[in-house]
Amino acid sequence: MEEKDKTRICVIGAGIVGGAISEALVPRYPVTATRRSFDKLNGLSEKGVRVTSDNRAAAEDADLVILSVKPAQVVPVLKEIAETVSGKTVVSFAAAISTDILRLAAPKAHFVRAMTNIAVRIHKGFTLFYPEPDFPAERLSLLERILMELGEIQQVDEQYLDVLTAMSGSGPAYIFTVIESMIYGALREGLPRNLALMAAAHTAIGASCLLLETGKHPAELRDMVLTPGGVTIDGIYELEESRIRTAFMKAISAASARARALSAEARAQAMQEIE
Ligand SMILES: NC(=O)c1ccc[n+]([C@@H]2O[C@H](COP(=O)([O-])OP(=O)(O)OC[C@H]3O[C@@H](n4cnc5c(N)ncnc54)[C@H](OP(=O)(O)O)[C@@H]3O)[C@@H](O)[C@H]2O)c1
Repeated sequence: MEEKDKTRICVIGAGIVGGAISEALVPRYPVTATRRSFDKLNGLSEKGVRVTSDNRAAAEDADLVILSVKPAQVVPVLKEIAETVSGKTVVSFAAAISTDILRLAAPKAHFVRAMTNIAVRIHKGFTLFYPEPDFPAERLSLLERILMELGEIQQVDEQYLDVLTAMSGSGPAYIFTVIESMIYGALREGLPRNLALMAAAHTAIGASCLLLETGKHPAELRDMVLTPGGVTIDGIYELEESRIRTAFMKAISAASARARALSAEARAQAMQEIE
């Protein structure tokens, strides 16, 4: 078995995302995960994650802390562990909480704000991260190595993270909706359920890989599938009549607006809690 890296990681808030991150990191790093309901940590314990409900002790023992509690819990948790994370890297996966708020709650930590999605569970997430301006440069490569265990990564400006919450964080829900709709279409035509699911899911994987590997625009690749007078153009005609592109554009705009509104609410609440 490959020897583990020595960097000790603590994941505070081992729910859907924190649990998936813990599972993804534990083959390579010593991971401690926390949440208040200790009995719900059994599954992670069986996978080799150390578990506790003591945030402060877990943060004290860690070299790097990952925060994956809900936005409303970020400031109280940071205030609880502020002294123990002094000088340490803290990566917050919470939507809506900006790095200036994180810093006010725990002034001596070095913060990274990140956004990812539930595919981290199988190392296929897309993690966008923003290290605050005075983040120690010599820590970047370790940070990137750790995040790469979760899937693809990209460093971005903080100003994009609300829209990226709507794209990358919420994105799997949209893709599942597309796949589910394709399955229902196939069921109407009498395809067995499992065959319909495999066809829809593998088609989504293949199309995404082709897009990324060729670097072509999606419209150019779609055009390659459209034989004159063929089958696909009839399907595309129906989609255009249903204004599918407008529907998706409106979905991303609505989710982005909600992410921005949550950021503003979270800021107001956090300021009250910090004062
Ligand atoms: N779900 C997604 O697809 C997704 C995608 C991208 C980003 N995010 C972000 O990831 C964060 C977590 O989301 P989630 O969907 O994983 O939520 P979740 O399943 O509710 O997980 C949050 C966890 O935090 C724990 N918790 C709450 N207060 C705590 C405390 N004081 N100390 C320790 N643990 C505490 C909760 O467990 P107990 O109640 O047992 O303490 C819960 O397990 C959010 O900030 C969200 O914005 C989520």
